[in-house]
Amino acid sequence: ATIPRFRMTVRSTAVYLTPLVTKLHKDCATPLPVLRHVADAMAADMRAGLAAEGGSDLKMILSYVDSLPTGSEKGLFYALDLGGTNFRVLRVQLGGKEERVIATEFDQVSIPKDLMFGTSEELFDFIASGLAKFAQKEGNKFHLPVGTKREIGFTFSFPVKQTSVDSGILIKWTKGFSVSGTAGRDVVACLMEAMERLGLDMRVSALVNDTVGTLAGARYWDDAVMVAVILGTGTNACYVERVDAIPKLQDHVSSSGTTIISTEWGAFSNGLPLTEFDRDMDAASINPGEQIFEKTIAGMYLGEIVRRVLLKMAEEDALFGESIPEKLATPFALGTPDLCAMQQDTSNDLQDVGSILYKAAGVESNLSARKIVVEVCDTIVKRGGRLAGAGIVGILQKMEEDSKGLIFGKKTVVAMDGGLYENYPQYRRYLREAVTELLGDDIAKNVVIEHSKDGSGIGAALLAAANSKYRDYDL
Ligand code: GLC
Repeated sequence: ATIPRFRMTVRSTAVYLTPLVTKLHKDCATPLPVLRHVADAMAADMRAGLAAEGGSDLKMILSYVDSLPTGSEKGLFYALDLGGTNFRVLRVQLGGKEERVIATEFDQVSIPKDLMFGTSEELFDFIASGLAKFAQKEGNKFHLPVGTKREIGFTFSFPVKQTSVDSGILIKWTKGFSVSGTAGRDVVACLMEAMERLGLDMRVSALVNDTVGTLAGARYWDDAVMVAVILGTGTNACYVERVDAIPKLQDHVSSSGTTIISTEWGAFSNGLPLTEFDRDMDAASINPGEQIFEKTIAGMYLGEIVRRVLLKMAEEDALFGESIPEKLATPFALGTPDLCAMQQDTSNDLQDVGSILYKAAGVESNLSARKIVVEVCDTIVKRGGRLAGAGIVGILQKMEEDSKGLIFGKKTVVAMDGGLYENYPQYRRYLREAVTELLGDDIAKNVVIEHSKDGSGIGAALLAAANSKYRDYDL
């Protein structure tokens, strides 16, 4: 299916190479030297963030997770997942080495927009009541030993300064959340208070970032997993680090000698190929100057960048005729799923592209306009995917430099999750291509990027089990 598309692209090149498209290509270009610079700078920023608190854009957050699941975890555990577009509750029944995951059940709701801008109490009441409703459905199915409580792994996917494996303070919101009263507070305490208001008697035994949950979930099945990356609404990566390679760490004893570091790489900003559209979007955002890597490569923003490009083309080149529909001028009218759907249209007349443009942005388009639109989507998505790939290589490079051959010399798995990666084939391809270009075929074949679907929920439940207050029990 890719061959006809390629031919079509070549034949019609002249149609869509307007000066604005050419300029966009130039500004977004990610040739090998740019990728290499990003990978090197990522590795250097990681080191600076490990050396001292506040030493770099990358916070390099300690997770207090020193041991990953072994497979022998047993019992009934819950996971809560807040961090992107959806809120999820999950129940996992773990049966130990032989039986592993006996059963899972989950509920998912999208987070009402107004809660993203409300108060901390409102948001945590919403989470706690979702949990309460879900727990009620359990009925009399499970009987826990007397004296034990149901335990929760809480995946909270924002920058949190962990104070222990089960507590941490929200540094700031990202991904469009702007809830008042949470920053600076322990988010587990916020959740416990909301649970108390509802009379729900459960215990939070692990607080984790979604990347850490994904790493734990993937490692449960495969020992070669060393890195986990989320590419969804937002983006972040975590990895296994040696305790003695973390100068800022004091008095931390880890029996394994390793610990998980969440890089918060969304805040990376060094040497990225940015355009006027990125700068304008950043300036208009609720967190200007922050999360620049995230704003360039993650799902929340790709659609909005493309909308800004198309708006300029509509204004300056009359791309969609003389008038400019209000919708096209509305921030976030075009979503990343729209870009993805448009890029899957391989028909001659680009009918789907036309109807998506009409539905999302209110514009009428002829064939040459549609071709330009697809080209703009591809340019922004290509830059995003390739930069994400360079980021991953940066992390692997740092690990390799410290361990001489232990990463590139054998199979290393990068566990990946998030809707952007899962649903966008072109993005996935561009990411993989950049990894291969940077590492060369021989090394790249040892780096396996594996989609670990919903691994973060099970991972959080496993970490709740690993940090349980109670001994392993049978139900
Ligand atoms: C944002 C958050 C980070 C999270 C990522 C992916 O970058 O700050 O904590 O891991 O999104 O959800």
